[in-house]
Amino acid sequence: MTPAFYVTTPIYYVNDVPHIGHAYTTLAADVLARYYRQREFRVHFQTGTDEHGQKMQRAAAERGISPLELADRNSASFQELWRRMNIRYDDFIRTTEPRHEQGVAALYRQMAAQGDIYLGEYEDWYCVPDETFYTELQLKDGKCPMCRRPVEKIKEESYFFRMSKYQERLLRHLNEHPEFVQPESRRREIMSFAASGLRDLSISRISFTWGIPAPDNPSHVIYVWLDALANYITALGYPDLEADRFQTFWPAAVHLIGKDILRHHAVYWPCFLMSVGLPLPKTIFAHGWWTHEGEKMSKSLGNFVDPLQMIERYGLDQFRFFLLREVPFGLDGDFSEDALRRRINSDLANDLGNLLSRTAGMVTKYLDGYLPAPGPLEKLDQELREAGEETLARVDQAFALYDFHQALDLIWTLVNKTNKYVDSSAPWTLAKDPGKKDRLGTVLFCAAETLRLIALLIAPFMPAAAGKMRDQLGLPDPSGQIPWSEACRWGALPPGTRMHKGPALFPRLEEK
Ligand code: MSP
Repeated sequence: MTPAFYVTTPIYYVNDVPHIGHAYTTLAADVLARYYRQREFRVHFQTGTDEHGQKMQRAAAERGISPLELADRNSASFQELWRRMNIRYDDFIRTTEPRHEQGVAALYRQMAAQGDIYLGEYEDWYCVPDETFYTELQLKDGKCPMCRRPVEKIKEESYFFRMSKYQERLLRHLNEHPEFVQPESRRREIMSFAASGLRDLSISRISFTWGIPAPDNPSHVIYVWLDALANYITALGYPDLEADRFQTFWPAAVHLIGKDILRHHAVYWPCFLMSVGLPLPKTIFAHGWWTHEGEKMSKSLGNFVDPLQMIERYGLDQFRFFLLREVPFGLDGDFSEDALRRRINSDLANDLGNLLSRTAGMVTKYLDGYLPAPGPLEKLDQELREAGEETLARVDQAFALYDFHQALDLIWTLVNKTNKYVDSSAPWTLAKDPGKKDRLGTVLFCAAETLRLIALLIAPFMPAAAGKMRDQLGLPDPSGQIPWSEACRWGALPPGTRMHKGPALFPRLEEK
């Protein structure tokens, strides 16, 4: 059986329209999913929208529409953005779907059956934008410690989940599974949070109604984070543990999230799962946050980067590349159009685009477009071949660590090596000497073959550009047919392949 790979994004709040932060997590998930599909894993990539809660109820009221109308509208904008970004998910779950609501109610009942839920009174602070409870001590200058917005005092009857009961088990799991929370700095953060003592968690509210009613006491709605986190299993068929999807894909390989929602994923979620006896996801990876030209993006500043606008201005694959190339995945980063333009001109137009167009140009000019079978490989050719093989292996290691930045760095090292290879082998000089015809064929074959590997490597990041490269290389559409073990073998480019020079892969942008 081929291995399974289940990757998720957070499900996004639909009180507003999507921005670059949402695009970032979903893009990373798409790249992972494409990467492992290419390597013939059974992949399941799930995303969706988080539609309940007090924030939604308020946002809808402000607009004078029902929460469901608002959810319908904005859930559709997320789906539209994913379509425009060439995001290929396998499932999109909305928390207002019956399959989800039933799953959440079942989860709640099971937690109760374990004796893990009791009725009490919650008296402390709540941040509505983050839908998160805080103690007085956790507040920063009386505001939400995460988003710095004002918090509200709550005093109401509430059901509680006995999270404290799972503290020791969670700590043990964190200790025994260093891959559970990544990057390492985030794992340490969660270890110290858990070690400082887990309090029981309020998991129901009575002061508003937009949520899933608590079974047995419908005057309570289930806390939106319990509701939302459950999506990772309800969409697989939970509570039916025999469901095909559940059997194949749970536990998840990785939940990709932003650093702001780490505690919910790395503390609450595992404790819920332990309560009902389900295995924990293998990894929770928290990425950093984007600022925009040095400033935090916020509604009040109105400076959110709109992904659609960037795609229109610079092209989709350019934007996809930039987001994962510019900043290591676990760190914060800054978005600016200047930086994006620089990357497009240097990495894409100069390095990769140029390599393809000069290779295709020479094959057309010197060889009538046809790539011959290569002759014996000389030292330079051999080195290029080894660089290609080594890049494949090292990119695989980078992917295992969710290090997209490193993967792209390795791929570009190969691009630059290939450019140097062409420079040092000087096909234009070989072409002048009829006695060097075979050598010329070998050199251009080696360059084209490495370009074929590069197209495979960039495909998860830039699917359309990879397709255009394959087209210029004269290769058939990769959809299926060629098994990965064959595709990734150096030398698999069939002799007699006809290359042609197409339009520039990435048009150069005017210097500002
Ligand atoms: N609904 C919850 C998630 C529930 S998952 C069971 C939620 N939604 S959200 O829409 O507010 O945010 C979703 C994701 O967007 C988070 O991972 C968050 O980190 C990410 N980002 C929001 N702003 C961001 C940046 N400025 N930069 C990078 N990612 C950011 O939280």
